[in-house]
Amino acid sequence: MTGSFPTIRPRRLRGSGPLRRLVAQTRLHPADLVLPVFVREGIDAPVPVSAMPGVVQHTIESLVAEAHRCVEVGVGGIMLFGVPLAKDPEGSGADDPGGILNVATRAVVDAVGDRLVVMTDLCLDEFTSHGHCGVLDAAGRVDNDATLERYAAMGLAQARAGAHVLGLSGMMDGQVGHVRAALDAEGFTEVVILAYTAKYTSGLYGPFREAVASSLVGDRATYQQDPPNAGEALRELAQDLAEGADIVMVKPAGPHLDIVAAVAAESPVPVAAYQISGEYSQIIAAADRGWIDRDRVMLESLIGIRRAGAQIILTYFALDAAALL
Ligand code: PBG
Repeated sequence: MTGSFPTIRPRRLRGSGPLRRLVAQTRLHPADLVLPVFVREGIDAPVPVSAMPGVVQHTIESLVAEAHRCVEVGVGGIMLFGVPLAKDPEGSGADDPGGILNVATRAVVDAVGDRLVVMTDLCLDEFTSHGHCGVLDAAGRVDNDATLERYAAMGLAQARAGAHVLGLSGMMDGQVGHVRAALDAEGFTEVVILAYTAKYTSGLYGPFREAVASSLVGDRATYQQDPPNAGEALRELAQDLAEGADIVMVKPAGPHLDIVAAVAAESPVPVAAYQISGEYSQIIAAADRGWIDRDRVMLESLIGIRRAGAQIILTYFALDAAALL
């Protein structure tokens, strides 16, 4: 290690905790995190989701308590998913002002108001008897344009319930522009649209199906993106931006960090990534067996998503991570 040139020693900056902290290029902050939550109609106590240990289907009361916890630890937002008692082919519970998601949204907004960003999932799958994200045509295929009308009605119902941000997760073409136009026409010009811009079809949604009591048979491959493809994510990004998306999202996060980076490199609006149910459950399952350290892997998975370029992370770990930050 001698010679006429100084030896390059990258290890020098790793020599102590304070040095590592000083030169850290990526930081996690509770305000970057959004907690996804489930609220179920017709229960009087929270119901555990067996495939997601630590996650429950909430009553409205326990949901409001969870929202207060988010405020206390400084989590940035909460994303609400509804689990209705009754479903039908049109998903009529989605835009019914008395539907579980809309009632719960009102309760959370009334409780935490301006202290937490309240987001709602804008998709029909929790409300349809067939479990698809849209309505079906006579041949049983998801009808893109008929679904847009349902999304507009659902978006208006959520805006009327007080939602601050609508999370358009259905992957219909034109959904951002269609919902934006409907909101603006009714005066909801300040309601934010978070577009699920690059949402890949994934086996990692498995535990979520239990969490929302999904009735889906088959898959969503005709509307969600195909994992081998990267280029179409940028096409979806251009389209969502042109239609007025305020925030764009990539999902799932972990298997698609290259897409997070590509979208972050191009996007003039904030980029979010969703660490989905199966990503959460994999970490919990391995930690429960003693194979990995839960907290360490949790923080490592989140820092990786941040480093790839996501400014906002939706994660079921939001409260746990915030407590450690
Ligand atoms: C659609 C939606 C899904 C998730 C979020 N929004 C299900 C799907 O696309 O199959 C999955 C989230 C997760 O797995 O944590 N409403």
